[in-house]
Amino acid sequence: MVEKGGGGPAHLLLLGLIVFFSIGGAKAHRRLSGEPRRSHRQVLLRSERLLASISAGAAPSPILTSSSSSRVYHVTDYGADPSGKTDSTAAISRALSAAFTPPSNRSLFAGIADLGGAEISLDGGSYLISSPITLPSSPTGNLKIHSGSLLASDDFPTGRYLIELWSSPTAASPTSTSSYNYEYITLAGLMLDANYRAGGIAVVDSLRTLIDGCYIVHFATDGIWVQDGHETFITDSFLGQHITAGNDPGERNFSGNAIRLIGNDNAVTDVVIFSAAIGILVAGQANILTGVHCYNKATGFGGTGIYLKLPGLTQTRIVNCYLDYTSIVSEDPVQLLVSGSFFLGDANIVLKSVNGVMRGVAIVDNIFAGNGNGVDIVGLDETAGAFRTVDQVVVERNSVDEMTVRSTAARAAKEGNGTSWTVDFSGVLLIPNRIDQVQYSIQTGSGYFNHALRNVSGNQVVIESDKAVQATVFVEVSQCEGSMA
Ligand SMILES: *[C@@H]1O[C@H](CO)[C@@H](O)[C@H](O)[C@H]1NC(C)=O
Ligand SMILES: *[C@@H]1O[C@H](CO)[C@@H](O)[C@H](O)[C@H]1NC(C)=O
Ligand SMILES: *[C@@H]1O[C@H](CO)[C@@H](O)[C@H](O)[C@H]1NC(C)=O
Ligand SMILES: *[C@@H]1O[C@H](CO)[C@@H](O)[C@H](O)[C@H]1NC(C)=O
Repeated sequence: MVEKGGGGPAHLLLLGLIVFFSIGGAKAHRRLSGEPRRSHRQVLLRSERLLASISAGAAPSPILTSSSSSRVYHVTDYGADPSGKTDSTAAISRALSAAFTPPSNRSLFAGIADLGGAEISLDGGSYLISSPITLPSSPTGNLKIHSGSLLASDDFPTGRYLIELWSSPTAASPTSTSSYNYEYITLAGLMLDANYRAGGIAVVDSLRTLIDGCYIVHFATDGIWVQDGHETFITDSFLGQHITAGNDPGERNFSGNAIRLIGNDNAVTDVVIFSAAIGILVAGQANILTGVHCYNKATGFGGTGIYLKLPGLTQTRIVNCYLDYTSIVSEDPVQLLVSGSFFLGDANIVLKSVNGVMRGVAIVDNIFAGNGNGVDIVGLDETAGAFRTVDQVVVERNSVDEMTVRSTAARAAKEGNGTSWTVDFSGVLLIPNRIDQVQYSIQTGSGYFNHALRNVSGNQVVIESDKAVQATVFVEVSQCEGSMA
């Protein structure tokens, strides 16, 4: 009920609603817009041009200069063929060159020219390209390429990428430098088909790149490769070498990496990886993977869901992910969090020793659902040497069905009549032969007697009494949780 007394509160409420709706509206627009925002006037202009050329009996010719002040560049205006029949590489490159006249002298990060939010619109077409789409100059930023499909031609150079955010694309492999090539480049609403020849997107030495709503398939090498730079956000996207919906007869042959992250501070959020040998390969610090569903190549067939390959400096958070028959492998994990994730079909986590270091690892509150093959939820791969430096490792509170629980803390009770009670934790503790903390209590109806913790070795706990009694001992142990609670 609106107050009867004064118009004041009602007005305020109304004002509040207007503000709320306009903010909500703007957000919704940005969120949904793969579409460029074209003014009514421009649409009219374009139709008039089209009508004029049709009535003159000629096909619409490419318009190479923009007659309005719009910064939306339509590749079809530059001669690109949206049917995908003829090569559009040069036309797309012309559209990019037009967009690369900065509208001002402003810059983003020091030295990075601001393109003012220019858009390259693919106009909902499919374009055949015979060489990588590269940006005409760097360092530049504030540009969006969106809304259409790119297909690598049969002579597309192997080893390259359909879109390369890379200042020296001719180099076989980039040398890492400290300067940035690009900032705030958005690639949105794109389907990229690498034709089993190329990779999808290369992002090298760039800042704040957004890859949003993309569908990247048929890559020979990587779907997305991020090298150096930071804050590349890969979100709401689908990647697969082969287009499949699971149980693919060719799954054993899947190769390549869907995402290769060789840089820091990136985020992969709400992404599905449906075929590739490795779903996400991470060799950089402070990356976060969240909402990632990997069913790229079953671990039973030699695949890996997420491979963390930065021994001794992992610093990775994997939260709320879905590892679907694909495992996580981490080499010498140092500061790794795996939490709130779902592991299906014997998918597990393998901690792989390189230099024997494991520190600051938390694997907690996950769900593991296996196939009754006795697979450990967390396994140690010590083929290259045992883990020797192990500290602050917490593997606990996981929900496990049809797999073998491994944990760094455990409790058990043992009933007996005698002077010695041995509780064996070796079947559940993760680290062999290591118990740092023991607590026990002893319950008996047989009067008072002396008892003590006598031996902790081989992950077994021995409690002895000075006289034979019928008693139950309750024991809690933890391995190497260090200062972590
Ligand atoms: C950029 O700066 C130069 C030199 O100061 C000036 O001549 C030019 O007009 C400026 N361009 C724009 C787009 O502001
Ligand atoms: C996998 O690749 C091998 C070698 O190229 C080939 O012989 C085999 O038929 C392929 N398997 C499937 C299921 O595609
Ligand atoms: C415990 O063992 C002793 C001797 O071995 C026996 O006399 C006693 O009855 C046993 N107590 C119970 C509760 O089984
Ligand atoms: C503890 O038990 C192990 C295995 O039975 C044994 O080798 C070791 O000598 C025992 N240690 C002590 C202090 O009794």
